[in-house]
Amino acid sequence: MNAFSVEAFAKVNRDLHVLGKRPDGYHELDTIFQTIDLTDEIRFLEREDGELVLTIAGASQPVSEENLILRAARNLRERVGSRVGASIHLSKRIPIGGGLGGGSSNAAAALLGLRALWNLPATDADLHALAAAIGSDVPFFLVGGRARGAGRGEILRPLADGPEEWLVLVFPPFSLSTAVVYVALSAPPLTDSPGPSNLRSSDSGGGPDRNDLESAAESLQGGLRRFRLALSDLGATSARLSGSGSTVFGVFGDEESARRAFEGLAGLREETKATMMIVKTVSRAAFARRAMPPTTGQRG
Ligand code: C5P
Repeated sequence: MNAFSVEAFAKVNRDLHVLGKRPDGYHELDTIFQTIDLTDEIRFLEREDGELVLTIAGASQPVSEENLILRAARNLRERVGSRVGASIHLSKRIPIGGGLGGGSSNAAAALLGLRALWNLPATDADLHALAAAIGSDVPFFLVGGRARGAGRGEILRPLADGPEEWLVLVFPPFSLSTAVVYVALSAPPLTDSPGPSNLRSSDSGGGPDRNDLESAAESLQGGLRRFRLALSDLGATSARLSGSGSTVFGVFGDEESARRAFEGLAGLREETKATMMIVKTVSRAAFARRAMPPTTGQRG
């Protein structure tokens, strides 16, 4: 019986410009995705009874993530007209509602994993189309590394890996809904006029990158700003919200500076009950090694 595991990576948005609201209600983006070394693990096992069974460890509440994996599985089966089943076990480590793309990553891993498990003839273009239909961030997790996202985020251009960076991640003790943050943004409609976004971009420094969702997220959760400023004060070259939050991250050029900042945050950790961790960026080659299913001969 076919069985194997893959890692499903988290991402941060190193840069996120909202260009305006589209007639379909989504927002036109120009963003840079970067995979980071924080992963869920997903195990796939073929089932002959045709059932799709998902079990989850490590999530404290019933999660929408399970719907994304099952939706990916059902959509993929439908696309190729297959009736094979699978047991899928998800070990969850990526926080939910954190702007780190965990649910989207799980869905992409399910598409890649099940295509391999079932030996399906689906092409990469088929998987991309299925991924984009599941969610705006899902296609990025078929590519990994660093990539520029346009449209809703689903039109991707892979970028060369930058130098390895160390990130301090701050998970506040609350999550944020992407849809709610976009409503709070009240973005003006897209216009044909070229030029920079007319939205208020992130204020008070925070580095060369920006995230146009930061002020909307901070208007909903005022505590976020404090984490961003603390990371800047502790030497982060960039301190931003990831996606629509609630995770805030600081970027450091080496492990030592990241560790010093982490130690400098001890008081804030204690006071706010935020969880924090240090992670490295992940190159496209490392992503491919760890996220892609093994080829038939390597499975066990
Ligand atoms: O695509 P996805 O289902 O992940 O998006 C969740 C919600 O976030 C959408 O329903 C929409 O409200 C908002 N969104 C948006 N523009 C984007 C991506 C997401 O308005 N580019």
